[in-house]
Amino acid sequence: MSQKAIINTDITAGIINKNIYGHFAEHLGRCIYEGIWVGEDSPIPNTQGIRNDVVQALKKIQIPVLRWPGGCFADEYHWKDGIGPRENRKRMLNTHWGGVIENNHFGTHEFMLLCEMLGCEPYINGNVGSGTVQEMQEWVEYMTFDGESPMANLRRENGRHTPWHVKYFGVGNENWGCGGNMRPEYYADEFRRYQTYVRNYGDNKIYKIACGSHDHNYEWTEVLMREAARFMNGLSLHYYTITGTWQHKGSATDFTEDEWFTTIKKALVMDEIISKHATIMDKYDPDKRVGMIVDEWGTWFDVEPGTNPGFLYQQNTLRDALVAAVTLNIFHNHCERVQMANIAQTINVLQAMILTEGEKMIVTPTYHVFDMYKVHQDAARLPVEFSSDTYEHNGEHIPQVSISASRNAQGQIHISLCNIDPKSEANLSIELRGLEETAKLTGTVLTAADMHLHNTFEQPEALKPADFHGATLMGQGLSAKLPPMSVVVLTIE
Ligand code: AHR
Repeated sequence: MSQKAIINTDITAGIINKNIYGHFAEHLGRCIYEGIWVGEDSPIPNTQGIRNDVVQALKKIQIPVLRWPGGCFADEYHWKDGIGPRENRKRMLNTHWGGVIENNHFGTHEFMLLCEMLGCEPYINGNVGSGTVQEMQEWVEYMTFDGESPMANLRRENGRHTPWHVKYFGVGNENWGCGGNMRPEYYADEFRRYQTYVRNYGDNKIYKIACGSHDHNYEWTEVLMREAARFMNGLSLHYYTITGTWQHKGSATDFTEDEWFTTIKKALVMDEIISKHATIMDKYDPDKRVGMIVDEWGTWFDVEPGTNPGFLYQQNTLRDALVAAVTLNIFHNHCERVQMANIAQTINVLQAMILTEGEKMIVTPTYHVFDMYKVHQDAARLPVEFSSDTYEHNGEHIPQVSISASRNAQGQIHISLCNIDPKSEANLSIELRGLEETAKLTGTVLTAADMHLHNTFEQPEALKPADFHGATLMGQGLSAKLPPMSVVVLTIE
């Protein structure tokens, strides 16, 4: 039996902001140091200290925006420690992440250079928890002011004459937790105060992002929207997919079908969480002026055995690929409110794109999903009517297939399909309503016979996309047979 879907190719429903494909790099474990920054004297090929292989890999997936320096680290980061000659920079304790020494060799100039090399927008997260209004104000002035001023002069002394363009600025991170354990009422007032001094200099217009809620904490969103919506451009939201409990999250690579099922089920909760926070936002902002910025999401498993528990290093299997794919479909389908999302984190931490070991680098199954899905960046969403069959496990049911579709500026239609069932194929028949001429159909698939498959330094290409031949197009009718545990992207042109 085939499952029927209708895609209205002649109606559009919002633009899929390319920033939904954003990333997040924190001073945590081996994300910045080793993952990005190796220093100019490293034998690892680099440009001004930044790894060439990593830059090349991230450019391929068209990384649009990069959030830095945290996460929890942001609210203990003092930016002035990370400028000037590197040998003189202050060494500090990274109390959140492993209690290691942070030598501040990767600071503002290095981050902005990285963004220039990647061709992406910087998203800087300021310090509210342990910083001051003056410190935040001066950071913005340092980065973006063109005239004569103490901070602009200091920037010039440090070798950068022209200001940088900084569009995205976050006012604190998780201020309900690691960023100061504040009540929403208190943070709302702090946000109003701090953001006053996040100035627009010259033609640099800052998109101010307030610290938002997490999971099912709707009170935070209610208070922030009620008390401070008019001062913000974006409100963040964090949601991680944790299979087990906070104490025992489960292994990234060694898991049962039970854990496969639970992981995908929990990833799908993102849809409910976005819908409920968005409903509150709609009450105060019916025109959807304030963007929902899901600036931390992804899987969070136990660290790899033998690694520092504070470094959050985990492997990445076909299961992570499915989580990424269904989540990106959810973001597409909420694209009128979700204006940015930043998967946690780019390299060597949580659901990473890239893993490194010394000079070696591999890309993960999640990276491949970002590569396959990049065709949706800035494309117009096409509405999909679909009610999926279910994937049943031990008497519980979740939808078997997840779909989203878009049309890009060149007129190409892309359809992303995930079959999360590990045992059964999914037969789909899709009516492409409004498709005018019969066009060419091509496809790419990411799948494996083993749900645990992942790339290693010994077998870096164990899991990679292949051409997909399981779909046919006749007029407005498309039929597709999705293998179990697969992500497929179809192109119609
Ligand atoms: O991504 C790891 C941590 O998770 C971030 O630092 C924090 O914001 C969140 O709790």
